[in-house]
Amino acid sequence: MEQEDAIRQGLGSLHGIPLFKSFIEGWPQVKAFQARPDDLLISTYPKSGTTWLSEIMDMIYHNGNAEKCRRDAIYNRVPFLEMKVFKGPSGVEQLENTPSPRLVKTHLPVQLLPTSFWEKDCKIIYMARNPKDVVISYYYFHLMAKVHPDPGTMAEFLENFMAGKVAYGSWYDHVRGWWEKKQEKKILYLFYEDMKKDPRQEVQKILQFLGKELSEETVERILHHTSFQEMKKNPAANYETMAFTFMDHSLSPFLRKGGGGFGRDVPGLYFSPPLWLQIFNVCEDLPPLFSCPQ
Ligand code: A3P
Repeated sequence: MEQEDAIRQGLGSLHGIPLFKSFIEGWPQVKAFQARPDDLLISTYPKSGTTWLSEIMDMIYHNGNAEKCRRDAIYNRVPFLEMKVFKGPSGVEQLENTPSPRLVKTHLPVQLLPTSFWEKDCKIIYMARNPKDVVISYYYFHLMAKVHPDPGTMAEFLENFMAGKVAYGSWYDHVRGWWEKKQEKKILYLFYEDMKKDPRQEVQKILQFLGKELSEETVERILHHTSFQEMKKNPAANYETMAFTFMDHSLSPFLRKGGGGFGRDVPGLYFSPPLWLQIFNVCEDLPPLFSCPQ
């Protein structure tokens, strides 16, 4: 596939999950990917705080040394497992050239995760975000990140999102699938909204999960470096270094609002009940965060 073909490409279907055709082309290598026991997997549905969690993890791995975490762009420091867009290294190739211990990013639904992650019993951190903020963030991301199909209007995009007809499919199936897997596997399941509300507490949860201790001062540095304001101006974290052909920041910045509310920036849509309520109607057996607002 040529570079131009990856721009505004259509979605294909990978075992029933809508995905970029270029990613599907690279699927055999992803499926056969050899995880290492000390890999740590960061898994999310798109637009759920992946980059935020990735920056936090890289800071933890580098004991709060912000300079070390500026060594490269986040998409090189934490390679994207199933990424394949054009000539140039795929996520798998990047990972093969990354020394251990590796941080690995994926958006794959749980049933598609390459089996070696389970066989090697790798640690996994999943982060979920409420669907209202996800869908709005995803819409703006479609505008600026041209690997996606044209999203159409917000209303059209919302319908597609609700129907699971966007890359990575149904948000609900994704958060639910990983939630269930947590009963049997080593998965730390976090929420974007909790991270927003009390990042110190969430970082402590991560440290405990990793069996790692850091001084108060180091944790403080991590929190500062990974705050929305700091990440927004950090070229190693804000995707500004990504080629313009792939991401046009003049249409929407990557770190856009970083809100933990319920997508109030599109009031017209927020209050068109049937669509939004449908999102919440399917969420009743998720944790309280996802239940219907009163
Ligand atoms: P918005 O579009 O709502 O601003 P992902 O990394 O999974 O693509 O998620 C991107 C979303 O996470 C964007 O949401 C982005 O602003 C938000 N985000 C990134 N870094 C953040 C931070 N340090 N604090 C809060 N939100 C952050």
